[in-house]
Amino acid sequence: MDSLISQIDINRLPKHIAIIMDGNGRWAAEQGKERLYGHYHGVESVRNIVEGSSELGIGCLTLYAFSTENWDRPQQEVSGLMALLADTVRKEVPLLNKNNIKLHVIGDMSMMPPFAVKALEESMFLTSQNNGLNLIMALSYSSRWEITNAVKNIAQDVIAGKVNADEINQDTVHQYLATGKFPDPELMIRTSGEFRISNFLLYQLAYAELYFTDTRWPDFRKENLYEAIIDFQNRERRFGKTGAQIQQEEAIA
Ligand code: IPE
Ligand code: IPE
Ligand code: MG
Repeated sequence: MDSLISQIDINRLPKHIAIIMDGNGRWAAEQGKERLYGHYHGVESVRNIVEGSSELGIGCLTLYAFSTENWDRPQQEVSGLMALLADTVRKEVPLLNKNNIKLHVIGDMSMMPPFAVKALEESMFLTSQNNGLNLIMALSYSSRWEITNAVKNIAQDVIAGKVNADEINQDTVHQYLATGKFPDPELMIRTSGEFRISNFLLYQLAYAELYFTDTRWPDFRKENLYEAIIDFQNRERRFGKTGAQIQQEEAIA
C-alpha cells in the first residue's frame, strides 16, 4: 500500500473524483446473504474511501449512493437503505469533523422520507464550517432530473428578468446544476464490472477519465482508489488537441 501511494504525484491529483458505488447486491449474494447485508458492508468502503480521499487532499468526492431509478427496487430494500443512510450520516459526523470534511447532498429531496432528509440536514449543518474535502452524496439523484430542473430554473429566472436569454452560456448551465459550486469530476470510477453511466453526472462528465474495475463496492479500499488515481495520472488528457500540442505545453510548463 505504501509503494502504491508513493507512485501518486500529489501535485497532479484529480480535483474531483466521482464514484458509482456498484455491486453491493452481488457481493451479498456471493456470500449467500440478502442484498441489504451488502449495503451494510458498503458503508465500510464509504468510510475508507472518504478517509483516503481526505488524506490525499482531494478537493471533491461525489458518491452515487441512490438513483432516482432505485426507487423502483423492492420496498424492503428501499426502506432498509433509507434507514441505513440516515443512521450512517448521523453517526459519521464526529469523524467528518475530525477530518475537516464538509457534507453536501445532490438529488431530489422531495422523494426522500422526512427522517432521512432531517438526518442529512443536521449532518450538513454540523459539518458546514469544515473546509477540507467536499463530500457530495448523490441521493435520489439522476442526471436527467438534475438537467430538467436546471432548465426549469433558468426559464423561471429568464421570466423573472434575472437572466438574459441571450447571455446564457456554459457557465450559466454549470451554475444551475446541483453541482454548480464544484468543479467537474476529472476521474469517474465505477465498481463491479458494469460499463455504463446509469444517469450519473451526464453533463459534468464530458471530459472525465473513466475507470472501471471488477472489484465489488464492499471490497473497494484505499489501495483500489490509489490504483485508479495512478491510472488517471498515466493518461494523456488531450481535450480535443493533438498529442504533440499537449507534449509541447507540458514542456513549456
Ligand atoms: C449499489 O449496489 C448500491 C445501490 C444502487 C444502492 P447494487 O445494489 O446496485 O448492487 P448490484 O449491482 O445489485 O450488485
Ligand atoms: C447506479 O447503480 C446507482 C448507484 C450506484 C446508486 P445501479 O445498480 O442502480 O445501476 P444499473 O441500474 O445497474 O445501471
Ligand atoms: Mg447495481
